[in-house]
Amino acid sequence: MIPDAILHQIQDRLDIVEVISGYLTLRRAGKNFKANCPFHGEKTPSFMVSPDKQIFQCFGCGEGGNVFGFVMKIEKKDFREAAESLAERAGVEIPKDTRIDPKVEERTRQFYLLHTKAAEFYHQFLLSRKEAHAARAYLENRGLSRDTIIQFKLGFAPETWDAFYSSVKGETADAILEKSGLVVAKKEGGFYDRFRNRIIFPITDSKGACIAFGGRVMDDSVPKYLNSPETEIYSKGRNLYGLFQARKAIREIDAVVVVEGYMDLISCFQGGVENVVASCGTALTTEQARLLKRHTKNVYIVYDADKAGESATLRGLEIFIEEGMEVKIVRLPEGEDPDSFVKKQGGEGFRRTLEAAKNLFDYKLDLLKTKHDASTIEGKVKIANDLVSLFSRVQNEILRSAWTKALAKELSLSEESLVAEMKKSAQRPGGKTQARPVETASGPVRLTARRVPQQAVSTAERMVLGLSLENAGFARRASEELVEEDFENPSARKIAVKIFQTTREGESMTAGRLAVFFQEEPAVMTLISQVAADTEIVADKERVLSDCLVQLKRQRIRTERTELLSRMAAAEQAGDQGRVSEFMGHLHELNKREKQIHEKK
Ligand code: GTP
Ligand code: MN
Repeated sequence: MIPDAILHQIQDRLDIVEVISGYLTLRRAGKNFKANCPFHGEKTPSFMVSPDKQIFQCFGCGEGGNVFGFVMKIEKKDFREAAESLAERAGVEIPKDTRIDPKVEERTRQFYLLHTKAAEFYHQFLLSRKEAHAARAYLENRGLSRDTIIQFKLGFAPETWDAFYSSVKGETADAILEKSGLVVAKKEGGFYDRFRNRIIFPITDSKGACIAFGGRVMDDSVPKYLNSPETEIYSKGRNLYGLFQARKAIREIDAVVVVEGYMDLISCFQGGVENVVASCGTALTTEQARLLKRHTKNVYIVYDADKAGESATLRGLEIFIEEGMEVKIVRLPEGEDPDSFVKKQGGEGFRRTLEAAKNLFDYKLDLLKTKHDASTIEGKVKIANDLVSLFSRVQNEILRSAWTKALAKELSLSEESLVAEMKKSAQRPGGKTQARPVETASGPVRLTARRVPQQAVSTAERMVLGLSLENAGFARRASEELVEEDFENPSARKIAVKIFQTTREGESMTAGRLAVFFQEEPAVMTLISQVAADTEIVADKERVLSDCLVQLKRQRIRTERTELLSRMAAAEQAGDQGRVSEFMGHLHELNKREKQIHEKK
């Protein structure tokens, strides 16, 4: 990645208007410039360039971005190439890739070496030392064979404070040791081992080199797992546990199974299911999805059958769908995880559940049917609305039309009426149920930019972001009144987080500069220029901002209330009066908060 500061320096020296006019004839229109869009055929200009915001945006085809995005698109270059050519023009030097900085390179080499040594140390300790007797018994008890232990090079870190440290201290510099995260500095000087009295799971990169460790306790103490910190060779969000071992099977079978835990993955392998990777308890990232996409487009998500697993599944789904992958979901029986399931039913049983995996549509429909009553009109509308917003994010036409058929049948509605409902929803920017045009004193705000298919961002979210990028005062208000969770769309949330952060730091920046932080996420970059362009047509900006802030806050309260009510119902059913009254208290608070919003307005 090119440092943000360098990219900002390039932007400071090159005006987007000047760069774009090297390719197109721009005509002034108010404070902006217009042209016929170079990215789609058109006779009347709907391509806008804003010198204030340092972005371009086509209202016809939806293309947009900052100066780097423009050069990427028009020259068909990747980000780095575009930045390099603009840097040259601006007379800014891009520092050489840090990976080929000789100092960093040497440190990286030492990190790899050290991790290889550590993995070997823990592994040998587990296999042959008498102090590892309990660890061997623990793993045997959990059903792991010696072959499996060797295949995954599992290890054991003894309880002594410096067993590993004293095995390497002569041959590796303390600074390297400390930075690797394998040892921790003592206050009084010297070091002790980070991993003690834990089963060790080496984490490898895609070439099989050990880059980090996870360590599990053998009893109920906490934390259950301890992981290596992020280092120059290890980034949690860019790795998937087991990918090195699973690669071959993933390609052969042309599908990957994503599970949550180390033990889930290892049990699957031992049961003969080898196309598995583990997300290790963290939310999946776009980078991880892309890592998998190099091997296959077909994903099965098999998470624990609990509430946490369910919401992690839904979040994972979004990431894979945004990457255009085909996702199926397996719901294990209550209380099971892949590890326990494979132990009971074997790899064969596990494979059968994969065959019966639900596609996204069925999974979501099942979930919605537990939330709304599909026999009433009201329930049907709710279910249809929620699914329709999902449809709009799926790029495959054939799939979409098959789902429409199935949904019509499921809800006993005619396909025509459903399609009409979907059209209505598609015209609402955002597509979600709450995404109706915002009513303001100056009439409803309608947006002309065509939506990018997978982006379901509500109008209120778009307006708040766009207005915050236009005016530092608006950004301050938004950051004071909202929290990041008020933004439901993942890309919108990322933008909000960045705006809030820069606002807190007392900085204000143009949309074009903000987009630089998302140089590796074109979808976010595009959304930034879209929301920035949206506000060009808003007349009473104060008013629209207030309305949208209120709408987002109310939406959040509504979501919280729905959740609360369903938990309350469950507590009621379980006869847990204590919890019911606790929830009543929360509900009361929510209502109070809602009232305050109205009063403020
Ligand atoms: P077992 O209890 O040994 O079966 O492990 P598990 O993999 O089933 O654990 P669990 O389902 O509780 O968690 C899934 C994954 O989340 C684990 O494999 C870890 O990667 C991660 N995880 C769980 N607990 C912790 C923790 O306390 N700290 C950290 N850093 N990660 C955790
Ligand atoms: Mn488990």
